[in-house]
Amino acid sequence: MTSLPVRVPLVSQPMGVLESLQTARRNVLEIIPDIATKQPIVSGKTATVRWHMVMDPTALRRVLLEQVEHYPKSDVTKNILEPAIGDSLFVAEGAHWRWQRRAASPVFSHRNVHNLGPVMSLAAERSVDRLAGQTGRAVDMFEDMVATTFDVISDVTFSGDDSVDRDAIHHAIDRYVASTAKMSVMDILGVPTWVPRPGRFFSGNALKQTKRIADKAIDARRTKGPRAVPDLLDLLLEGEDPKTKRQMNTAELRDNLLTFIVAGHETTALTLAWALYLCAFDPDVQDRAREEAQQVLNGDIATADHVPQLPFTRMIIDETLRLYPPAAFLSRTARIHDDLCGRKIQPGDTVTLPVYALHRNSVIWENPDAFDPERFADPKSIDRYAYLPFGNGPRICIGAQFAIQEAVIILATLLSRYRFTRIPGKDPKPVMILTLRPEGGVWLQVDPA
Ligand code: HEM
Repeated sequence: MTSLPVRVPLVSQPMGVLESLQTARRNVLEIIPDIATKQPIVSGKTATVRWHMVMDPTALRRVLLEQVEHYPKSDVTKNILEPAIGDSLFVAEGAHWRWQRRAASPVFSHRNVHNLGPVMSLAAERSVDRLAGQTGRAVDMFEDMVATTFDVISDVTFSGDDSVDRDAIHHAIDRYVASTAKMSVMDILGVPTWVPRPGRFFSGNALKQTKRIADKAIDARRTKGPRAVPDLLDLLLEGEDPKTKRQMNTAELRDNLLTFIVAGHETTALTLAWALYLCAFDPDVQDRAREEAQQVLNGDIATADHVPQLPFTRMIIDETLRLYPPAAFLSRTARIHDDLCGRKIQPGDTVTLPVYALHRNSVIWENPDAFDPERFADPKSIDRYAYLPFGNGPRICIGAQFAIQEAVIILATLLSRYRFTRIPGKDPKPVMILTLRPEGGVWLQVDPA
């Protein structure tokens, strides 16, 4: 057994355009040069695009907060996501982003997220039940966590309406993202837009159909009124921009709900799957977390009320998001002449925020590749721009608290019931396809605790 958890081999030689294209198609993280984990900024030029990878907290603060209007999300992100989720919260810019963010913010208030706790507890319980039949065996915990977070996101978006084929909606979205995301690296590398992107061919009918089904569900809910415990659709239907009084129409509601699915489903599953791998990697950490969970839960399934009493579980989630940030690579386009870490930035330059490299940068983190949840014992000791699993500034993830609450509830519940052990030769391999995924799954032996 090695003393460090699995990581992505970063390149140490500068690559030519073709070589980086081939590598990037395999694994975007492999185009991050190793020096990005040792320096504050790395710049280069690929085809026609000048790019800068920024790993310095002060410069990141400038891009994400102080000069945020001059660093819009790059076309890469928009090109991939817009056909699926329209000009919704995730991709919109300027005034159109601002009013949507103001209208949607209350949806994710502490109280509303807390009220959605039972949905998360139910999903945790279902996972416990599924695993009960598989003890003593190797289980792909990534697959199980995808099913678990799917239960949550489908129950808080298009729920309680039997006419909606939730599976169809979610699978269409997942397929779309998987097929287009691979090609997006061609955009990162500045390949001209006339070069065909095979992924774009998947668009037409499946997506249109998905949108039609979603629209029908939204209109039905308008007529029926909210559920007893309002879900995200009910809350968004009520939502209003306090400044302009604008409310979302059906298409805007649908695009934002689909956005929540795209942004919140797989990312949370990844967090949980990587957290379970890390717990298996370090059995002492796992034992300590289990002790905490068993003491607090006392045989029950975790609820939102338990979350503040599970600080060590939370520290494991925080450290997991450092080592395996699901959104491992954010991208912006500079619109101004600027200076980042003494480097000249020109309008049109691509500024990438390689969160994976930032979180493993040795200037910032001690022993960066090691798994050590204790780093997060005092979160205030960590620079807010050195740790960016949810981004930061005004575009920070709107679902961060939702995701953390969900992850803590599910992880604590599972650890209180089961023991997870690595299988020799079957460690997951991190691969970047829009998100940082474990290739081939996260296979762990599951035994009763
Ligand atoms: C562990 C799970 C999650 C991770 C790691 C994550 C990560 C992120 C990151 C890094 C961003 C900023 C992207 C950028 O600045 O370019 C973001 C934005 C966003 N996320 Fe999440 N996310 C997670 C869960 C969720 C959930 C559960 C939801 C909704 C239910 C959600 C909805 C959104 C939305 C709507 C935005 C765009 C916000 C805006 O631009 O105003 N995310 N997320």
